[in-house]
Amino acid sequence: MRTIVPFNDNWLYTSADVDHNAPDSAFERVALPHTNIVLPHHNFDNMEYQFVSTYRKRFRLPEARDGRRVFIDFEGAMTATTAYLNGHKLGDHGGGYVPFSFDITDYLIDNAENVLSVRLDSTERGDIPPYGGIVDYLTFGGIYREVSLRYVEPLYVADVFVKTFDVLTDKARLEFDILLRNVSNAPRTVSLQVTFAAEEASRMIESEWLTVSVPPGGEVLHTYEKSLRIFKRWTLDDPILYGWEVDLVKEGGSWIDGKLDNVMGSFGFREARFTDTGFYLNGQHLKLMGLNRHQTYPFIGGAAPARLQRKDADIIKYELGCNIVRTSHYPQSKHFIERCDEIGLLVFEEIPGWQHVGDEDWQALNLRDLEAMIVRDRNHPSIVIWGVRVNESMDNDVLYAKTNAFAHKLDPTRQTGGVRFFQESSFLEDVFTFNDFSNDVQDPLHTPHLITEFNGHMFSTKTWDQEERAMEHALRHARIQDKQMGHPQISGAIGWCAFDYNTHREFGSGDRVCYHGVMDTFRLPKFAAYVYESQQSPDVRPILRAVTYWTRGDRSVGGADPLWVFTNCEEVEMFVGKERFGRFTPDRETFPNLPYAPVQIKGFDAPAMWSRPYGELRLVGYIGGEAVTELQMGTEGFPIALTLEADDDELNVESAEGTDMTRLVFKLVDKFGNRLPYTNQVVSFEIDGPGELIGENPFAIMGGQAALYLKSTREAGTVTVTASTPRLPTVSVTVTIS
Ligand code: GAL
Repeated sequence: MRTIVPFNDNWLYTSADVDHNAPDSAFERVALPHTNIVLPHHNFDNMEYQFVSTYRKRFRLPEARDGRRVFIDFEGAMTATTAYLNGHKLGDHGGGYVPFSFDITDYLIDNAENVLSVRLDSTERGDIPPYGGIVDYLTFGGIYREVSLRYVEPLYVADVFVKTFDVLTDKARLEFDILLRNVSNAPRTVSLQVTFAAEEASRMIESEWLTVSVPPGGEVLHTYEKSLRIFKRWTLDDPILYGWEVDLVKEGGSWIDGKLDNVMGSFGFREARFTDTGFYLNGQHLKLMGLNRHQTYPFIGGAAPARLQRKDADIIKYELGCNIVRTSHYPQSKHFIERCDEIGLLVFEEIPGWQHVGDEDWQALNLRDLEAMIVRDRNHPSIVIWGVRVNESMDNDVLYAKTNAFAHKLDPTRQTGGVRFFQESSFLEDVFTFNDFSNDVQDPLHTPHLITEFNGHMFSTKTWDQEERAMEHALRHARIQDKQMGHPQISGAIGWCAFDYNTHREFGSGDRVCYHGVMDTFRLPKFAAYVYESQQSPDVRPILRAVTYWTRGDRSVGGADPLWVFTNCEEVEMFVGKERFGRFTPDRETFPNLPYAPVQIKGFDAPAMWSRPYGELRLVGYIGGEAVTELQMGTEGFPIALTLEADDDELNVESAEGTDMTRLVFKLVDKFGNRLPYTNQVVSFEIDGPGELIGENPFAIMGGQAALYLKSTREAGTVTVTASTPRLPTVSVTVTIS
């Protein structure tokens, strides 16, 4: 039988390139996901992560082999891996974004210790995508995704692709493409059964047992088909997933003594189509509104464990109200994509690369990455399109005809796109996916058409930028989304971008950050985040966000007029101090197409602003004439509290094998809890209990908000983190590690 053993704990690591003779004492003990260096959140150079490091893991086989093959599976390591077992070279893998495996069977020692070593080259290698040119993001080093050990019988299930067809008709059907691989030198025959859930998820449908023979050293693709009439479709509001399993038993064997393999997964029934009149999910027109996501985090680079990956999907869906995310510019963590399936967030996934296309060998890696991406992810209903071009590269019809055809071969069920920034580009794919930085919405030259980036570097904005700039940043996102929503040929727009990210010196604000996010690098909102958030139905929650810091003299000329309020309420009532200014409705004239247009309140400051009392702001949101939510902003201007909150009350050492993390958000706020953007104080932290704080300590806060991460160690217990800053009460938060 198959056994999979997580292999993330008890690694040894050194930031030096050492050989097999180096003593263990030259290493430190680490767990995966692991970053080759913990860095500050900005003001560091990309050279700091560019070195060759060595990982070592001593292990005894957790179970006897019993004739099985044993593989080591890496989900991802940045950038070039060379692995050895007991001094024998297993192989090389170049490229940081797709999984790879080594068959370690021939070098294993059964009843004694084995030593796995990995030489990891994290330099920006010009022979490996995305490098060769300069790139606007960083490729932090490390074995930054999980590793596992996999035992399989000599004949095993190498892959299962679950396809659904015609799910909107009464001729719906399923196809399971099951790839069987025989790695022995004898022909083998097995019995195979497919089981899956449909209708009520509890009812299992089982295929007949089928007999399949596979030649020595060969593969057989077996397809099982089934028509279906009763099932629920995967939708954004009810993203129902069904489970499947494929079992192999010995020919004529039984469940009790003949089991050879069992693999399982999930799938969903949905139809996703980009057309000349926009995008349709399950036959229903849906305007796509989304943001691009880079997978990098402050301090830890790409080495975010499952919990943080899943949290990002939740932030994009629930805090930002998006219905689509683009994994710019590479395949991202499986945990992120799995969460997108579970919560109903559509995904545009693309091959690694950025503007530059290298020589033939480099291009061969493009095709290898494309295959690895599609084979890894084609069972995810959330993914609706494959990006088969290097982002924003120039036309290369030979290469992109190849990537496009290959994508269709690997997955005939999905459309392709290829992201470019000029409309005259040869249109080889199914969907013209276009980065439109005109600060407008250009009429499409080609359809189906999807805007894959806008804004970004055209209007970089920090959480501590002056109110007018932060407001204009929000309005730019709102104008583009509004305009695309009114354009009948455009499927949607995916803005640049969700979160600020670290970059090279050639980009960004000089401190090695691109401040292009609607949220900062800690995933905390700027005003532009409210544009997206407020497009959710009030049934999700009433949203009321004022685009102001409520100061008297920060904007040119002073005041806060006009006041934009991003809200899904029908009316907003405004009070300043005790004075009531009236009730206001959404500005449909400026924003005719957004589902929830913001409210614009004008004229309350003029003409004699300075002589008016400067009272606290209170806004009340109404739906159906009922007050459903309100917000208040103070006038003190300086902080009256330091706050500290953990995203999770509990971390788990067992399931995550020692690397679990949660975010600790801290803010300097007014008496109503609003962050104060110009409050730059030093905050110091203390930790008590079996956990580790990741991040700068003390931390010089900018923009009134920031975050650290709490990482579990191998021990269970209670962790208390205390934060303090001059002149304000000390605060603490407790997280249980179980
Ligand atoms: C685009 C590019 C993105 C990012 C963005 C900044 O041209 O595709 O990766 O650099 O510009 O606005």
